[in-house]
Amino acid sequence: EKNGYDHFMLKEIFEQPTALQNTMTGRIDQDSQMVEFPELDWSEAKVNEWNKIYIVACGTAYHAGLIGKHVLEELTRIPVAVEVASEFRYRRPIIDEQTLVITVSQSGETADTLAALRQSQKMGAEVVGITNVVGSSIAREADNVILTMAGPEIAVASTKAYTTQVLSLYLMGVYAAQKKGQITEEYRKELLESLLKTPGQIEESLEHIKGIRWYAESIKDAQSVFFLGRGLDHAVALEGSLKLKEISYIHSEAYAAGELKHGTLALIEEGTPVIALATQNEVYDKMIANIEEVRARGAKVMGVTTEGNMDIYHYVDETCYIPATNNLFAPLLSVVPLQLISYYTSLALGNDVDKPRNLAKSVTVE
Ligand code: F6R
Repeated sequence: EKNGYDHFMLKEIFEQPTALQNTMTGRIDQDSQMVEFPELDWSEAKVNEWNKIYIVACGTAYHAGLIGKHVLEELTRIPVAVEVASEFRYRRPIIDEQTLVITVSQSGETADTLAALRQSQKMGAEVVGITNVVGSSIAREADNVILTMAGPEIAVASTKAYTTQVLSLYLMGVYAAQKKGQITEEYRKELLESLLKTPGQIEESLEHIKGIRWYAESIKDAQSVFFLGRGLDHAVALEGSLKLKEISYIHSEAYAAGELKHGTLALIEEGTPVIALATQNEVYDKMIANIEEVRARGAKVMGVTTEGNMDIYHYVDETCYIPATNNLFAPLLSVVPLQLISYYTSLALGNDVDKPRNLAKSVTVE
C-alpha cells in the first residue's frame, strides 16, 4: 500500500533511490568497472553495423528518450532520432537492417508504442524494449528487453519509471560505446563512478523538500508556468511541464531557452512563474542571459542549478540546488524537485493527485 505516504506519487518519488539502485544492480561490474547487459545479444559486429537509432515512446517515456538521444549520440556518435509513437507509426520512417529501434514504455502495453515496435521489426530493424513490466506485450515482442527495476508504479503521473528509464538509457549508451571500442577506460570509470552516486544524491535532495513545498504553494494560482532550459535541461523542462499540467491542471510550457525571443517572450508578464534549469556548464552563461531576459519582463524566476553555481543568486528570485554530478547525469537529479513541485501544487489545489482527471495509467487504445 502507501506505506505511510499520503499518495502513491509521493511514495514513488521517494522510492527513486532504491529503484535506481535496483536498475543498476548486476549491470555495473564493480571489478572491471564496465557495464554488463547479459540480456542484450549485441555482438561487436552488430553494434558496429548500426548507422541510425530511433527511440520511440509516448508521454513521459518520450521525454526519457530525449535524454537518451543526447547520451547515445554523445557516447556512440550514431545519429539518434526520438519520436512520439503515434506520429512514427503513421509515416514512413526510414528503417532497415542497420537501424536500431528502442521502444520505451513503463507499462509495455501502450498501443502506439507497440505498433511502432511491430512496424520496425517488419522493416528489418532490431528492436530493444525498455519496460517496467515483465511479460508485457513489449517485453514479449521486442528482440531484446531491458527491464527497469522501478517496481509497480500506481500513480498516473510517472516518476520512478521515468528516472529508471533514463538510467537504462545511460547504461545502454556506455554499453554500446564499450562494444564499439569508443570510450576510454578513464572516461568510462569517471561516468560509472558518478552514476553510482546518483541514488544517494537523490536521497540527499529529498531532504530539502520543505522549501519546494513552499514554492509549489506560491505558484498554485498562476495562470501559466514556464520551464526553460538548454540541451539536457530542455528535455527535463519538458518533463517538468508535463508533470505540472497533468496533475495541477495549470497551463505550462517548456521552451528551449534560445527560442524565447522567437515568440514565447511575448507571453511573459509581471509575476509569471518561470522555472529555469541551469545545470549544463557549457551553456550556463547563455541560460543566465535568458533568465535576465524574462526577469526584465517581470517574470519570477526559480533557478535550478548544481551546487557550486553560487552566483545564480544574483539573477533569480528563488534557487533550488541539486548535488554536483557529471553534466550528463544532471537530469536524474534535476527532475526530482520538478516532480515535487507538481505534487505539492496539485495537493494545494485539492486535486486527486494519483488519479488526475481524463487520464489513465495505461493507454492500450490509440
Ligand atoms: C505521464 C505519463 C504518461 C506515460 C505515457 C506512456 O506522467 O505517465 O505520459 O508516460 O502514457 O506510458 P508507457 O510508459 O506505459 O508506455
